Amino acid sequence: MLEKSEYDDRFIQRLAVVGSPNITPENSDKYWIEHKDNMTWGIQKALYEARYPRDVAILGAGKCNDIRLHEIMQVGSVENIDLYDLHAGDLQKALAYITSKIKSIMPEALDFARINPVIKDVTCVMKRLFSKFDVIRKYFNNNLYPYGVQREKEFLHKIKAAFCEVFQERETEFVRYDTVVSDCILSQILAGIDIQLELLINDVFELIYVNKGGLQELKEVAQKMFIADHMNVLQSMTRPGGSIFIASDRMLLYRGRVHKDYAQDVYQTHKMEGFPTNKSIRDFGGDYIVEQIEVPRFEYLDGDLEKIAQEHLPEYEIVGSKTWEWNRQPHELRKNGDTFSAEEVQGVVLKNLSQK
Ligand SMILES: C[S@@+](CC[C@H](N)C(=O)[O-])C[C@H]1O[C@@H](n2cnc3c(N)ncnc32)[C@H](O)[C@@H]1O
Repeated sequence: MLEKSEYDDRFIQRLAVVGSPNITPENSDKYWIEHKDNMTWGIQKALYEARYPRDVAILGAGKCNDIRLHEIMQVGSVENIDLYDLHAGDLQKALAYITSKIKSIMPEALDFARINPVIKDVTCVMKRLFSKFDVIRKYFNNNLYPYGVQREKEFLHKIKAAFCEVFQERETEFVRYDTVVSDCILSQILAGIDIQLELLINDVFELIYVNKGGLQELKEVAQKMFIADHMNVLQSMTRPGGSIFIASDRMLLYRGRVHKDYAQDVYQTHKMEGFPTNKSIRDFGGDYIVEQIEVPRFEYLDGDLEKIAQEHLPEYEIVGSKTWEWNRQPHELRKNGDTFSAEEVQGVVLKNLSQK
């Protein structure tokens, strides 16, 4: 049984946690083959680089739909695999699936390695940040002054201060591991923050009244802070001589034949210009053939994980890097057999340069 979660459904909904709600572990074995193969490549490479790893952490494990846990358990030296996620229900599903699978294919593995769920917000700041956002929301809704530009300035100042404070106030001891996997969680953390910011801005101002430059700057500051912090967390959790595998979706990809309305929707959603005159779109009666539209997931940053790792993890060497597509396969879960959209995922394996 899992311990009682401090993250209730309301909090999970508020954070807009996106695991893999529409796919069961069984179906992920069937439909996410390329993604799982590449995740397995990264994890195995990281385990190899750590030389006889004993303890492994997977951050953002969720239902473990994108990893093959039993293959980690097969690595002779591995004794503990800690699965971190704040979604207790998804971790429960991961445990149930892997336990039944292992019992049926290699029950002896259960004696080799333990799988431990850890219900935790890996940033350790979300709850406090949301409380601060609520205080700011209340303050501005109860005070009509200052107004105009000064109001915006004060708002932006308070939000930036809230970001700084939550990281400064954080008191946490990180458990250390030989190998740490950031399992497609980075973009989720950034998206969660983005959504909260938009909601807050909408509540305090009508979006239209906010200086666009200020909002953009705010999102950029937030993304930079959370990326830097995530790298810092990964580093703090890794033992000397250990390894890290970071995988994250970094680009939304749209390609292929699609109804005009859908293509228009994509353009509007991502506030892109040039629809439908863009040369990469061809009109075929009711449909468009779109060559390729790429939308970075880290809206205001260069989403290249190699560069991010080089900047933030100077004591690590990049020993492997790959990009692949996730989620394009047509399958029954996509009701219209849609192969138009997908995510580009990047995976980077890093080795700590100090001796074990
Ligand atoms: C896109 S999913 C990754 C896919 C997941 N490994 C699976 O197989 O279902 C991201 C995961 O990160 C978790 N998550 C998001 N923010 C988190 C946070 N701050 N702390 C811990 N887990 C978080 C979500 O609950 C979700 O399970």
